[in-house]
Amino acid sequence: MTPEAFRSAGHALIDWIADYRAQVADRPVRAQVAPGDIRRQMAATPPDAPIAFDELLTALERVVVPGVTQVQHPMHFGWFPSNAALSAVLGDIACSGLGTLGISWESCPALTEVEEAVCDWMRQLAGLSDAWQGTIHDTASTACLTSLLVARERRSEYSEFAGGLQMLDRPLTVYASDQAHSSVVKAALLAGFGHDNLRLVASDPATRALSPDALEQAIEADLAAGRVPAAVVASLGTTGVTAFDPLPDIVRIAQRHDCWTHVDAAMAGSAMLLPECRPLFDGIEGADAISWNPHKWIGTILDTSLFYVRDPLTLNRVMSTNPSYLQSAEDGDVTQYRDWGIPLGRRFRALKLWFQLALDGPEAIRARLRRDLDNARWLEREVAQATHWRVVAPRTLQTVCIRHEPPGIAGEDLDRHTLAWLRRVNRSGRAFLSPAQLDGRWFVRVSIGVESTTRAHVERLWRILRDSAEEAQ
Ligand SMILES: Cc1ncc(COP(=O)(O)O)c(C=O)c1O
Repeated sequence: MTPEAFRSAGHALIDWIADYRAQVADRPVRAQVAPGDIRRQMAATPPDAPIAFDELLTALERVVVPGVTQVQHPMHFGWFPSNAALSAVLGDIACSGLGTLGISWESCPALTEVEEAVCDWMRQLAGLSDAWQGTIHDTASTACLTSLLVARERRSEYSEFAGGLQMLDRPLTVYASDQAHSSVVKAALLAGFGHDNLRLVASDPATRALSPDALEQAIEADLAAGRVPAAVVASLGTTGVTAFDPLPDIVRIAQRHDCWTHVDAAMAGSAMLLPECRPLFDGIEGADAISWNPHKWIGTILDTSLFYVRDPLTLNRVMSTNPSYLQSAEDGDVTQYRDWGIPLGRRFRALKLWFQLALDGPEAIRARLRRDLDNARWLEREVAQATHWRVVAPRTLQTVCIRHEPPGIAGEDLDRHTLAWLRRVNRSGRAFLSPAQLDGRWFVRVSIGVESTTRAHVERLWRILRDSAEEAQ
């Protein structure tokens, strides 16, 4: 494709995206397709001759759009918000259009230095001290894996440079709450700790935050059995009910046992932009690493996961590679982000954040987060006051965890009822929510935070929920 052909197709694509985004609210929220519907519309063999761009755009509309669950829809309340601010979309297009190669400082000095600057802007906006230095990973899952690899190496005298984990005669252990995200468990397993050495420590039954006493006991038991505690993952804003683990206690315990503390604040980290929410993050300055995803609530589009460490040298020692074909005269004077994570080749993701901050501005982002918190407060009050409805866990941010509990229905019958009214809502296409379990029983999470969701949408949702729960009885 020539630049001129790109210009004309690109204009058409931008027009198409602008129309699409302007009309998202007219579409069903959940993709109204059955498994295999989309695949059947894709040719079995690759294209053998080029087609016109218009034809491709028509196929995008016909094949792809019906298969999209509209997470940008104002009636989307599922999982966590996965906003894609149009200002960040422009940054993403610039990233692709520049066609950069991020494998070393030399391969694109701007990629490295804009990322350094933008990570530092986000640090300042989050109220973190200047002891932190950051980078951008694709996801919180990758950030947590990276962090646990560092924890493992730090506690095994950098075994990777000798016999690896296989040379250790005492197993390394890692700790997280029983409410931690599945990506934390996955990271611990992939980092080689092994399931037998992963402790999912009991959380407090009321707050669902990790119990420091239980953590202390688990570490003491492992020490007594000759194991070596290596890392604690603190969850600030769990996925189920947005619980905040008691970080000051965790840091104190972890430091006493020379453990690495990783903070998983994938969703809730965005709340650090609000000074009034910062007390939720007390203790953060004692942690070793923190990751949070501007691609969730703030809206910087997947894949933008910030990863900050206080000691980049330890991280670099574990992640560094320096083959002859990547060396340049500036090595030693510059940051090599390949030494901050797993991949060699990196995208120019910082442009998404830069564009969003420059075009929307932090104050507008803060106002939106505050609006969502207000809406969640409103819904929480409505549910708490409604007959036969219950808020099943304390609300800390923008997710309200609820259940309809009609008289005479309990146990598995209550589960069936919960899933029945939830599916009724989701299949209708009018709104979308996701369920989760607490103590083995299903409840529904109302996760407020799509960029276009206003109070009127939340009020409409509440009417839909009450109607669907009545109809499902
Ligand atoms: C608390 C928490 N941690 C980690 C993750 C994983 O995030 P990612 O998709 O960026 O790997 C999520 C995803 O929702 C999450 O809620």
